Formats: sequence, structure tokens, C-alpha cells
Amino acid sequence: MKSPISREELRLARSFATELYVAKARRQYDARIRKHPVARVGLAPWHDNPYPLYDEVRARGAITQGMQRGYWVSATHDVCKQALKSRAFGTIARDQPGRSSGEVDLSLLEMNPPDHTRLRRVAAPAFTPRRMAAYEGSIEKMVRGMVDDAERQGTFDLQHTLSAPLPITVISDLLGVPDADADLFTRYGTALGSALDGIKGMLHARRAFAAKTALEEMFTRLLAERERDPRDDMLSILAAEKGDTVHPEEMLPLCQLLLVAGFETTVNLIGNAIHQLMLHPDQWRLLTADPSLAPQVVEETLRYDPPIQLTSRVVMQDTAVRDHEFRAGEWIVTILGGANRDPEMFEDPNRFDITRTDNSDHLAFSSGVHYCIGAPLARLEAEVAIRVLAERLPSLRLVGKVPMRRTTVIRGVRELPLAV
Ligand code: HEM
Repeated sequence: MKSPISREELRLARSFATELYVAKARRQYDARIRKHPVARVGLAPWHDNPYPLYDEVRARGAITQGMQRGYWVSATHDVCKQALKSRAFGTIARDQPGRSSGEVDLSLLEMNPPDHTRLRRVAAPAFTPRRMAAYEGSIEKMVRGMVDDAERQGTFDLQHTLSAPLPITVISDLLGVPDADADLFTRYGTALGSALDGIKGMLHARRAFAAKTALEEMFTRLLAERERDPRDDMLSILAAEKGDTVHPEEMLPLCQLLLVAGFETTVNLIGNAIHQLMLHPDQWRLLTADPSLAPQVVEETLRYDPPIQLTSRVVMQDTAVRDHEFRAGEWIVTILGGANRDPEMFEDPNRFDITRTDNSDHLAFSSGVHYCIGAPLARLEAEVAIRVLAERLPSLRLVGKVPMRRTTVIRGVRELPLAV
């Protein structure tokens, strides 16, 4: 028999209340809200293509009222970038009301300077260009093995064969997690990643809680091992910093963030890139004729169909952006996927074009102090995967429906059925 839900699970469920979740409840009786594009973003039909809704948000104004007082929304590039870069805005801070501490602690993502700066400095050395160059050979070898597998199968699901196991193996190696179980980690990642949208019910809370507990147990054991017997990996670096630069209670959330952010996103960058190339055969032909275009495919996918669609900031002190006065304590949802389609910034933004030269200033990795620490690694993995697929399987084609994930913050395909 299932055990009754624990108090901690209940607290966890409550702690995930987000603007989108509140909107869902209110949608049922408030017609005005029902018309609001943000209220519709989380609804099933829009998972296939949320971009027209972002255009509606932008059409309402560069900064527009969300569904609750004090919540603002923007799909305008210059506003989103300013909010992400400005020190007048911060991320969810532990001392903010509405966010209880200790349940799902998103580590760096919900810290502000100076604590953020202190912790980020510990993690940053693992992602230097020199480190990246050292990983390239082993990533290429892994990808080739996975493509051999795909070729043998003839018809295969790219997500299961390559997009998921590649980043899981790479980030596990980098951290020093031995024998990572890709299927198990995929389940943990899905449970924790989908929780970013808000908890949808008790089963969802239970799954997220179970994933979090399992990862905490694993990291507690591994950190103790590395403290006794350090190796050349990230966990050994963290274990050495414990109590000094990293406070004990900050350790497990940081490990979890590095692991889950390391694969929940990259899996979708690879999936979304190949998905778009299959939907745009002319672009796929360009790439197979010249596989060295792979880095441009990565940048255009990050702009056109980014794995993280939105984030948010809290106003730390009264400030003005484009004549709009923000008051301390208000929130702004920055729709990264909408900023990336802003016609003021990108010419013909709804065209997927791997030869574009104007896409470098996309916001897929955010901007400012929280700019994605793993961006060089994500780019490297995706570039190698896309290049090798184009070289080895030029007649790749879609062979079935592509189900999208039913999530709002994270965007990606659940399966990508292909034939060689
Ligand atoms: C395509 C893949 C990826 C995408 C689209 C992505 C996206 C993002 C975004 C949008 C943020 C900032 C969120 C905000 O400003 O509120 C972020 C932060 C972060 N990402 Fe990534 N990410 C990717 C891959 C990775 C990888 C491979 C790692 C490696 C471990 C990673 C680790 C992190 C960490 C630790 C942060 C927090 C940084 C901070 O708060 O200072 N990400 N990522």
C-alpha cells in the first residue's frame, strides 16, 4: 500500500506555487484572465507551438501586466536583457516571502551577490575553454558509438539513443559520478525539471521528492568518499572547499543543480536542433553538404527553439525600464523564447535559417550574473552530435509523430522517431 503523503512532501508541493500555477486555477472563472496570452501558455495546444502567444504578449507592450498585480511579463528582447543584467533585479532569494527554504533549493539560480559570486567561483573552473578542449575527444568517441547504435537499429528514437545519454554521461564524468544509469537519471531529471512549472498534484510532488532524495543520498555518499580519497573531478574540488568557501548546507543543492542543469537542457538542445532540421529539409541539406555548419545550427536552434523558454526576476529596488516604473518586490517574467523572436532584434524572426549572422545575441542562456555556466559544454556536446549525425547519416528522416513535452519552462520533444 502507498504510504500517506508526508508533511515534507506537502510543503514541497506548496513551495512550487508559481504565477503559471495560480493562473491555472483562476482561468476557470475569470474570463478576462482567460484571454491573457500568459494564461494560455501552459495549455496543451500551445505546447506544440507557443511562439504565437509570445507575439501576442509583445503586441500588448514591451512590459505588460501579468495575471496578478505586481507581476509583469515581457517578450521584448531589450527589456528582457535589461532585467537580466541590471542589479536592480535579482533572482528568487531565500529571504523572499512566498519561497520557503530547504525543499527544492535551486542553489546558484536562487542566490544573489555576494553569496552567488562566492559559490559560482567554485563551480566555474570546471567549464573553462581549456577543460572543454580536453573533453572534445571523448565526446566525439561517445557520439560515434551512439550513432553506430542508431545505424544498426535502422529506425530509432534520437532522444533515447543519443540526446539523453550523451549529456548524462558527460556531466556525470565531469562531476565524478561513476556508472551513471541514464534511464534512471532521465526519470529524475524529468521529475525535477517538470517541477519548474509548478507541482501539478500529489503524484507529481511525490515523484519530485523521491528524485531529490535519491540524488541527495547519492551525493552525500560520493562527497564523503572524495573527502577521504580525492580524484580529478568536480566532486573532489567541492569536497575540498566544504566549510570554507562552500557552506555545508549549500553543497548538495549545488551538486544537484550541476547534474540536472547539465542534462535536462542539453538533451533538448540536441533534440530541438535535429527536430527543426527535419522540419526544414533545405537546412538539413545545407548541413549535410557542409557539416562544419554545425556550430551555426546550434546558435540558430538556441535562438529559434530554446530549451529554457522563460525565467523570472524580482525587483530588488525601485527602478525604471523604458519609462516603466518597477516597484521593489514586484516580479517580471522574462520570456526568453519570445525575446529570441523579437522582430526589433532579429530579421524575419520566425524563419529557421542556419546561415543567419544576426543570431549571436539570443537569450537562450540568459544574461548577466546568472548567464549559464555550462554554455560552453552544452554547445560542444550539441555541435559534435549534430556534425557527426550529418556526416554519418545524411539521409536521416522523420518517421512518425513527434510528441512534445507537456512543460512550459522546459521545451523539448519527448521522442524523435527517425530512420537512417
Ligand atoms: C542547452 C543547454 C542549456 C541551456 C539552454 C541552459 C540554460 C540556462 C539558463 C537560461 C540559465 C539562467 C537562468 C536564469 O537566468 O534565471 C542557466 C543557468 C545555469 N546553467 Fe545552464 N543551460 C544549459 C546547459 C547547462 C549545462 C550543460 C550545465 C552544466 C552543468 C548548466 C549549468 C547551469 C548552472 C549551474 C546555472 C546557474 C548559473 C548561475 O545562477 O549563476 N547549464 N542555464
